[in-house]
Amino acid sequence: MTGHFIIRTRSESDTDALVEIFRRSIRETASRDYRPEQSEAWTRFADENTAWDERMNTRLVWVAEEQGKPIGFIQLELPDHIDLTYVHPEHQRKGVATALLAAVEEMARQNGVKLLKVEASITSQPFFAERGFQTVSPQIVTARGQEFLNYRMEKWLG
Ligand SMILES: CC(C)(COP(=O)(O)OP(=O)(O)OC[C@H]1O[C@@H](n2cnc3c(N)ncnc32)[C@H](O)[C@@H]1OP(=O)(O)O)[C@@H](O)C(=O)NCCC(=O)NCCS
Repeated sequence: MTGHFIIRTRSESDTDALVEIFRRSIRETASRDYRPEQSEAWTRFADENTAWDERMNTRLVWVAEEQGKPIGFIQLELPDHIDLTYVHPEHQRKGVATALLAAVEEMARQNGVKLLKVEASITSQPFFAERGFQTVSPQIVTARGQEFLNYRMEKWLG
């Protein structure tokens, strides 16, 4: 049924769908906060197969799935760092990222983590703020020849 999704861990067969979510959420959502050349450089990460696979294989990854199809994903770099967080543009503002974040928080708590950290894009900062994260500082990161503003944020779990 549309609007009903489950959260599960990633499987190998998710790769193409997660790449598609990553590219589309940047091109169609984050692109409102970043210049075209920044968005293009950002999406190129998914073309770097080795880097992408390395990132997927060294993080815990949860996938939101609706009607058998992935619609969002989140990564936790153990023990306390949230990495990639992306929701398909056609499925945003339905609580998908909130449910994914709950899975991360549960794992972090089980591991005794007191402070959860993320570097939030301009686009995702309101989401993380709404979910209890405080902004620590803005920062500029350089990747694939472009500079990106993002925000170091933290949430106290203790
Ligand atoms: C940020 C992102 C992951 C949020 O996913 P989502 O599933 O739409 O988030 P949720 O539905 O769980 O949002 C929960 C709450 O967060 C806040 N929120 C989420 N997106 C927001 C936005 N664009 N502007 C303001 N508040 C927002 C709202 O309070 C929302 O509740 P509401 O819809 O009832 O008002 C998604 O917008 C995305 O993929 N963005 C592009 C990629 C990106 O920048 N990823 C982060 C890289 S660090």
